[in-house]
Amino acid sequence: MRFIIQSFVLAVFLMASTGVKAGEGMWLPQLLKVLNEQEMKSMGMKMSAEDIYSVNRGSLKDAIVHFGGFCTSELISPNGLLLTNHHCGYGQIQAHSTVENNLIKNGFWAASKKEELPNPGLTATFIDYIDDVTKEALRGITDKMTAIERQSQVDKNLAAIRNKYKLESYQNVIIRPFFDGNQYFAFITTTYNDVRLVGAPPESIGKFGSDTDNWVWPRHTGDFSLFRIYADKNNKPADYSPDNVPFKPKHYLPISLDGVETGDFTLVFGFPGKTNQYLTASAIKQTLEVLNPAKIGIRETALAITDKYMRKDEAVKIKYAAKYASIANYWKKWSGESIGLKKSGAVQKKLDYEKEFNHRLPENSPYKTLISDLDKLYEKSNPYAKANDYFNEVVLRNVELTNYMASLRRLVAAYENGGVNGYNEYLPRIKGQTLDFYKNFDAHIDQEKLEALLEMYVSNVDSRFVPPFLQKEYFGLRPDQSMDYVVKDWYKKTKFSNIVLSMNVLEMEPEKAVQAIKNDALFSVIDDWVDFYVDEISTPYNELKRDIDLLQAQYTKAQIEVFNEKRFYPDANSTMRVTYGQVNGYEPRDAVYYEPVTYLDGVIEKYVPGDYEFDLEPKMIKLYEAKDYGQYADKTGKLPVCFLGSNHTTGGNSGSPAIDANGNLIGLNFDRVWEGTMSDINYDASICRNIMVDARYILWVIDKYAGAGHLIKEMKLVRPKTNVKEPQKSKKR
Ligand code: ARG
Ligand code: GLU
Repeated sequence: MRFIIQSFVLAVFLMASTGVKAGEGMWLPQLLKVLNEQEMKSMGMKMSAEDIYSVNRGSLKDAIVHFGGFCTSELISPNGLLLTNHHCGYGQIQAHSTVENNLIKNGFWAASKKEELPNPGLTATFIDYIDDVTKEALRGITDKMTAIERQSQVDKNLAAIRNKYKLESYQNVIIRPFFDGNQYFAFITTTYNDVRLVGAPPESIGKFGSDTDNWVWPRHTGDFSLFRIYADKNNKPADYSPDNVPFKPKHYLPISLDGVETGDFTLVFGFPGKTNQYLTASAIKQTLEVLNPAKIGIRETALAITDKYMRKDEAVKIKYAAKYASIANYWKKWSGESIGLKKSGAVQKKLDYEKEFNHRLPENSPYKTLISDLDKLYEKSNPYAKANDYFNEVVLRNVELTNYMASLRRLVAAYENGGVNGYNEYLPRIKGQTLDFYKNFDAHIDQEKLEALLEMYVSNVDSRFVPPFLQKEYFGLRPDQSMDYVVKDWYKKTKFSNIVLSMNVLEMEPEKAVQAIKNDALFSVIDDWVDFYVDEISTPYNELKRDIDLLQAQYTKAQIEVFNEKRFYPDANSTMRVTYGQVNGYEPRDAVYYEPVTYLDGVIEKYVPGDYEFDLEPKMIKLYEAKDYGQYADKTGKLPVCFLGSNHTTGGNSGSPAIDANGNLIGLNFDRVWEGTMSDINYDASICRNIMVDARYILWVIDKYAGAGHLIKEMKLVRPKTNVKEPQKSKKR
């Protein structure tokens, strides 16, 4: 891996000398000193790399917390107060809601620590330190190995590395591949699991604009919520107990009241989930022509059915709110991504890049056929990839009872492999899952979804991937005849359409329960369908994917060697990253320029009384009319709501702090702009922007709207611009 570091250093040098504009990249915090510090300073940063990541002293990284493993959050008080997005805490806010006490609708503010609400299962994870373990991880690996041989050697190596660490019970070591397996880092983590809900605005603020505004600028959402980490008397992680005390962090973020202007330096620190920057044109074509259309189509259908019922019934709306938002979120993202990939000519850009890559290779290079080999594999994998996405979206993601049947399969397997003991060992897990599942489940809605989605599966997937027992002729139907009655029959006969029936089965003697499950009308179909899927779709597909991954690993390595004037950053993989950019607007299309800041005035402009997406509480309108913004207004007397940056972010960066040149919190990352959602595959500095809530809006809502001034008192509010000499601004916008 030495060559990577060397070419990085060289590349940074070149960048600085050629003045390339930054924004792209999700960088490892421990490598900033070598790779990025100089550039960050040239963009206005006043801190050092050591202020951001240090193992020897408190640094920014000690305030950054992986929230529940899916979002980011940050500490903003010496008493463990944690800030994240409203949509990140949504599951918890929903879990505490009932029709009578609807926290989604009305918001929630704990008046004292005693009122803060525990959330079983919710975790807050810190990164203690990061080790480069590439050498040990790749020990014994040769270029001649097959994908399987390589994987099994790497797995052995990783297990050995893991064993080397002496950890506390609350610590963990997570080892992840970088650059498609060319580099490995170990993250040593500490996880707290008493994390309580402290505050959340009503959805008319926290989810203002809802799905219509999701992924869209201009934006006016106050997408934040507050939690608190609790620890034992020694400040160490402990299971929930009323005796636990607020956690004392090594570092927490001061909050700037001075806000941002175009050109200001912005740093976003968090846990981006997954990106794919180094793919071939053929891979992007697969996403664009096969995968995205399949997933978008299925979700569109499922969402329309759920929406119909949510609008009719308040209780259904609460039950399905979080699930709907999560399905709708990526449905919309994929649509934006496809539009952006097409509009930016992403496939052609990659083709040009590949031409240049091949052109630069020496005559005898082992990489000569790399791209054409990958192209062939992608071509071959297209139908499998499509069937794979269809199966997963229909059976495991959108229809829920089918997903539950897949869990029951594991219980049956536990019995078949481990007898009564195996069964009894697995049963508590299934029971827990069962209780959770039925809380938010309506069999009628689910049945309607399976009717529609099965039809889509049968008519859109290659017929060799439709199991014989799901083919229309098996039921004596013509291709144009509906299978609805078949699905209706499964749902009528199944013993799992509600929690009482389901628990009845789970309370039986193991042998009887297994019999009852296996004889169930819906279970037996799904059981066979999953078997068919494994044999005919996922096994051959995974084999192809292993070959693709092996070649992709070589291709990524080759790109770094061949384009050694370019700077490379590893794809996101849910590990801690820093991305930096500047506050900047953009041109979404010809003759249109979007300003980078929105104001409360825009919230009022969007207000539609009675509309579930754009309604406002009377209190909001009163405060607006009184212009009661206190210390939170900007220089012109307006209250900023959201702003844009050129930081390269992705899913998982939700809840990430936006930090100014001096290390103060200026905003809370929560989204990207529509035109730039393709940035996971094809980052384009001219239109890819991340969206943040302005910290002053968050403070204003807590203070003036919610009257929770006691929370503001915990925080450290600063005025870095007013108290220091105006820093030099970049003139570019
Ligand atoms: N698009 C943002 C993200 O990917 C926000 C999602 C939550 N909001 C919503 N309306 N579903 O998480
Ligand atoms: N909203 C996203 C999340 O939950 C972050 C926005 C993005 O994908 O960039 O992580």
